[in-house]
Amino acid sequence: MTIPEVIRNTLTRYLHGRGIEIGALHKPLKIGDRGRAKVFYVDRLPLDELRQQYPELNGLPLVTPDIIDDGGVLERIEDGTIDFIIANHLIEHLDNPLLALENWCRKLKVRGKVYLAVPDKRYTFDKDRPLTPVGHLVEDYQVTSRERNDRNYQHFVETAEIIEKRVGDDARERVESLIAKQYSIHFHVWTFDSFTEVLLYLIDEMQIPFKILDYSPPQLGGNEFIFILEKTSGQGSSNLPGLLRKIQRRLCFLLVRNWPAKQIS
Ligand SMILES: C[S@@+](CC[C@H](N)C(=O)[O-])C[C@H]1O[C@@H](n2cnc3c(N)ncnc32)[C@H](O)[C@@H]1O
Repeated sequence: MTIPEVIRNTLTRYLHGRGIEIGALHKPLKIGDRGRAKVFYVDRLPLDELRQQYPELNGLPLVTPDIIDDGGVLERIEDGTIDFIIANHLIEHLDNPLLALENWCRKLKVRGKVYLAVPDKRYTFDKDRPLTPVGHLVEDYQVTSRERNDRNYQHFVETAEIIEKRVGDDARERVESLIAKQYSIHFHVWTFDSFTEVLLYLIDEMQIPFKILDYSPPQLGGNEFIFILEKTSGQGSSNLPGLLRKIQRRLCFLLVRNWPAKQIS
């Protein structure tokens, strides 16, 4: 087993009860001790359409979704009813990640967990793309869905031009074909550090009642970082006076920032 696989497995220790995995596709999270967790699978597409979207996975078994739903909204899941949400290599496919995280928090019971593995752009085909700043996500959260669709166009252009190195008419045609297929591109790209800032914005500024319970920076030979978020009752942190709370978050941020830098280099 590789180090990244060991880390993925180790962090499943937080998952108990009944929950969902969004976008499992060909790589469902293996939850070691079967029986302690019941997972239902959510995807935006049924199995036959997933096969069409991902012909490169022909020959590999794919998870059959139990629930077809937009994973960023989870309309079909009642609020406050699930113990965990697994979202591995999914959040970068969502065009409004802050709203998705807010929705996930609402769907969880108090002390429910989010298991979130995210590709670190430095180790993927996104390496030449500019990082997504927190401010961009805040705008995605604030604009109308129509405006967001217009903004998304630019990400399709980045996919064709920066990832696939297409130019001119070839790039334009590729953009149109990806949009026509409703292909699930990476709308946003992060590193471990830049995603940490997203989570701190979510917790500190948006006051979404999550705490960072555990995390793993990218490991040798791997391309992802993992965060485990826990839904709090919303009282623990808001009881702290504002300044104290800011210092506490800042310290946590510095710890999280400095730890991976030493590991990676
Ligand atoms: C790159 S695959 C992730 C596969 C796997 N979880 C992993 O760790 O490699 C992304 C998956 O998310 C699904 N997906 C993308 N956008 C979605 C959305 N808005 N709602 C639900 N599922 C979505 C895709 O259909 C696909 O199954």
